[in-house]
Amino acid sequence: MSANEVDLTVFPDECDAFGHLNQASFLSLFERARWTMLERGPGMDVFTRNDAWPAVRKTTVEYHASALPGDVLRFQQALTYHGRTSFTMRQVARRVRDDALVASAEFVFVTIDRDGRALPVPAEVSRFMLELSKPGEGLQRMPVNGVSLAVDLQGSGPAVVFLHGYALDHSMWRHQMANLAGYRRIAADLRGMGHSDAPDLGYSMATYADDVIALLDQLGVKQAVLVGLSMGGYVAFEVVRRFRHRVRGLVLMDTRADPDTVEVRRQRDVNSVTARDGGSAAIAEHLLPRLLGRTTLATAPQTVERVRALMAKTSMAGIIGALGAMRDRPDSTPLLAALGDIPTLVVAGAEDQISPPAQMEAMAATIPGATFRVIADAGHLPPVEQPLATTRLLAEFLDRLQHDA
Ligand code: MLT
Repeated sequence: MSANEVDLTVFPDECDAFGHLNQASFLSLFERARWTMLERGPGMDVFTRNDAWPAVRKTTVEYHASALPGDVLRFQQALTYHGRTSFTMRQVARRVRDDALVASAEFVFVTIDRDGRALPVPAEVSRFMLELSKPGEGLQRMPVNGVSLAVDLQGSGPAVVFLHGYALDHSMWRHQMANLAGYRRIAADLRGMGHSDAPDLGYSMATYADDVIALLDQLGVKQAVLVGLSMGGYVAFEVVRRFRHRVRGLVLMDTRADPDTVEVRRQRDVNSVTARDGGSAAIAEHLLPRLLGRTTLATAPQTVERVRALMAKTSMAGIIGALGAMRDRPDSTPLLAALGDIPTLVVAGAEDQISPPAQMEAMAATIPGATFRVIADAGHLPPVEQPLATTRLLAEFLDRLQHDA
């Protein structure tokens, strides 16, 4: 068990008439887990010692499965946002005996003084929580544009930035990050997703693009090849629109340049409601059959589970923020004809239902000099469904770019 995990047993007096852990008791257990973590860390008196108190401003809880008396629940805590006077914690509870996800929650806190005035979060508390929430193996945290992004950095050479799709994270590029030797590979979790901060508000394509550029500035990268998949492609278009001189080449994978139709915009709002009601797990269930190709769905259960798990752990703020950002994104079709000076590769999964190959080919045809390629046996996520074929295609494009430079 790691330092951010706390095990608590469910007692009969916390359960309802049906014997299930009651939702109000759940809130107490979430709170107990937080205090236990503080007790083991800087001490339960850390707030009083600093003359500040954490007041809950907002709570979002999703219940996924029941818990019964005697069940041991493992509560895992992570900091997802740290502002000056506020912070957000994501907590998940899993049943220890079968690792089932029982509930997940987000708590927004404001630190206040005795008179209820907002105060900066005490430095001692910040240090403890930031330490607890260090991103996973090999990831770095980089403060950019008012948030902290989790970034995977590999290798050296000409820079390549990987931009993941909706409700996913940097790990969808695992094979490409591990194998594209000779390049400086940069894969960040977009704000609201993966291990990056997930502020409540402030999501737009312009903000995601600003984050990418602030990240490149931090890393001292003047120009990079952008590889954007689906929503990552929308971000790539926005970077081209506003920071064209920073783009050395472009890979547009299973994405589109045209904006949402009225019907799709309406569907984004319906999806926000689905997410609020059913949690990120409901979004995963809804999307998976269209996201993955028929070959993956029929023959690669581990890949299906990997993508489902990845989506199900995306924060609610990140999902709702991304839905709004996609709904309101500008039309990028006017950019296409003017991309002649940026070497561009357009890639489609042969079985993609969301951005079908014919549509991707038509987009490629309007970009002067663009190359169009199809990856067999892949749906909307070729880097995950056919990692080797995707890496080979990217290596070929990147090497050609180097050769022609
Ligand atoms: C994605 O994979 O990022 C989404 O399919 C993009 C979208 O919903 O437009």
